[in-house]
Formats: sequence, structure tokens, C-alpha cells
Amino acid sequence: MLNRRSLALAAAALLLAGCSAVAAAPQPTPRAPSEPPLPALTPAPDVPGDPEEGRRLFLASGCGGCHTLDGLRGATGVAGPNLTNVALRPTLAGERLPNTPENLARWIRDPPALKPDTPMPKLGLTDAQARDLAAFLESQPYNP
Ligand code: HEC
Repeated sequence: MLNRRSLALAAAALLLAGCSAVAAAPQPTPRAPSEPPLPALTPAPDVPGDPEEGRRLFLASGCGGCHTLDGLRGATGVAGPNLTNVALRPTLAGERLPNTPENLARWIRDPPALKPDTPMPKLGLTDAQARDLAAFLESQPYNP
């Protein structure tokens, strides 16, 4: 005969069974704290390299830790100059270098080789990576 205690136990068992059924149900795929995908970039004309890879590298190589770039989440550093639309400036590195896509890539690849007293370190990038980073910075005015 059922007494209160066995009723309570049965109820508890049912509850537990219900819970484990819920736990076993397929869970929605956990989503990374969702960030909208970055927009495609229009490359600057006649500039070699992949601006979208450059944009990825800008954050992955730590540039954004030292440089602010308006419109790029995570690029908020202040140790170096703000690089927003740096491609439009006539010179680089305190007027030491004419600002061309080629000089920009050379600078990114090895700043002390061009200006021994610069506080910007050589970051160990390949030529291709420096070119992609320069392509990204050069593309900025074309992607307001
Ligand atoms: C440790 C901090 C630091 C990091 C990391 C860093 N920079 Fe710099 N960067 C500087 C400083 C400081 C200057 C100013 C150098 C000078 O004028 O001598 C500079 C200058 C520059 C300039 C020239 C800007 C101008 O107006 O003359 C460019 C372009 C540049 N950095 C791009 C990059 C890129 C791309 C990366 C990532 C691959 C990067 N930097 C990583 C500190 C940094």
C-alpha cells in the first residue's frame, strides 16, 4: 500500500527522470560571445597583399595593443600613434620615411632597420605578413 513516504519517493524519482531527460536532450550549440562578422574590404588599387588577412594580423600580431585604429574592435592601444587612415599621411615614423605602400610594409617588417632609435619593436613578421598588414592599412580610406 502506498504511504506518503513512498508517494514522495515516487514523485522525486519522476522529477529526477524528467530532469535527466531534459539534460540528455540535444543542447543548442554554445555560441562564442557573438560578434558580427567583419565586413569585406575593398582593397586599395595597385597595392599588393590581402587586406582582410592584414586586418586579422593587426589584432593577432599585437599591433592593436599599441595602436588605435578607429572602427576596429580591439585596436585601442596608445603606446604608438593612432593609425586611423595612416595611408593618407605624407610620411611615416616622425617624417623619416616617405609614406608609400612599399615603405609601410618595410616599416612593419622591421622598424629599427629604418629608424634605429624607434620604440616600435621588430615583431618577427614575414614579408608576406608585412605586405598584408600594409594592404590593410592602405585599404582603410577605401572602406570608410
Ligand atoms: C610595443 C608597441 C608597438 C607595437 C606592438 C606595434 N607598434 Fe607600430 N609603432 C609603435 C610606436 C611607438 C611607433 C612610433 C615610432 C616612431 O615614430 O619612431 C609606431 C609606429 C608605427 C607606424 C608609423 C606611424 C606613423 O604615423 O608614422 C606604423 C604604420 C605602425 N607602427 C604599424 C604597426 C603595425 C602594423 C604593428 C603590428 C604588426 C605595430 N605597429 C605594432 C609602437 C608599436
